[in-house]
Amino acid sequence: NNYCVIMAGGVGSRFWPLSKNEHPKQFLDILGTGKSLLRQTFERFNSICPVENFFIVTNSIYKELVLEQLPELDQSQVLLEPLRRNTAPCIAYANYKIQKRNPNASIIVTPSDHLILKESKFLDVLTEGISFVQNEEKLLTLGIQPSRPETGYGYIQVSKKSIGKSKDIYPVKTFTEKPHHDLAKIFYESGDFFWNSGIFIWSLKSIQEAFNKYLPDVNNLFESGLDKLDTKQEQDFIDNIYPECQNISIDYGILERSNNVYVYCSEFGWSDLGTWGSLYEHSEKDNNENAVQGNNVMLYETKDCLVNVTADKLVVIQGLKDYIVVETDNTILVCRKKDEQEIRKIVNDVKITK
Ligand code: GDD
Ligand code: MG
Repeated sequence: NNYCVIMAGGVGSRFWPLSKNEHPKQFLDILGTGKSLLRQTFERFNSICPVENFFIVTNSIYKELVLEQLPELDQSQVLLEPLRRNTAPCIAYANYKIQKRNPNASIIVTPSDHLILKESKFLDVLTEGISFVQNEEKLLTLGIQPSRPETGYGYIQVSKKSIGKSKDIYPVKTFTEKPHHDLAKIFYESGDFFWNSGIFIWSLKSIQEAFNKYLPDVNNLFESGLDKLDTKQEQDFIDNIYPECQNISIDYGILERSNNVYVYCSEFGWSDLGTWGSLYEHSEKDNNENAVQGNNVMLYETKDCLVNVTADKLVVIQGLKDYIVVETDNTILVCRKKDEQEIRKIVNDVKITK
């Protein structure tokens, strides 16, 4: 009964210039492990979910990339969006595909760009989470102890009363997606909040109910052509309704609004590989705290830098401190580490995104 939905349609703009519209970070081997982030995600969940129960939701331009990296999947398991409408429509699409196959499904929904260091602990958490949602019609998200007032995440305030067999599952009192810095600071310093990991567990029934209640228009669009799913007309139908779908994330669309959300707080070495800085934190460093990726790099009097070179060039750096330097075949980025959030804006100027 276990299904896994991998959301893999984002652009990863803060990882530019390595992550690009034609080749976003989830398809790259960012950590140099020999496997892309998508491949790692698939293998991680494959231990509790059979291959045929995976759905990868992505933009249609990435179809070949997904099938290349996950050759064990059938084409029908790769759900293709004609344009980006954020994560709520992406999850709704997968829900209806699963509904056709197994109305009693338990579903794990996961991003495709996370790092999980303690895999076996993580699998224990998933197993317990699944058994929780099999018994209770509730929406469960995995919560993480925050370590800084990060503004890119959702913040979860819990009611003190824990439920379930595990003492670590709490009813969610408030959910605030991407607060401003001042608010994030208050949340972080209060000690009452967890980060939303963006990994969700729920039964098909509970999430469908939530969509009907909070995003009924999205569900109605899919309902209008249920008979077309799993037929030759599926792609045409999806291509037609997608432009009409509300452009909204599951966090704003459902988690902030629902009072049926629970959080499983746990520690499994989670990290969102969202920016170059997060990659720096997780990379091995030399004696001067430089993280160097690439073979042809020479550093002199350089400290605390991330240098990532995929271009076939010699890169020599003298006297830099606290910088990100990324060199691809056609782009060089040099950016202060503390300004890494600016990269998203820079990307807009460069207009590499659609
Ligand atoms: N198919 C599809 N279509 N996938 C998408 C789309 C889309 O339009 N947009 C984003 N995704 C995928 C991304 O590739 C990523 O794997 C996942 O959905 C989450 O999207 P992000 O854009 O990375 O979300 P976020 O990081 O800003 O915020 C989410 O994750 C945080 C933790 O990493 C939220 O859930 C936050 O609450 C959470 O704290
Ligand atoms: Mg993210």
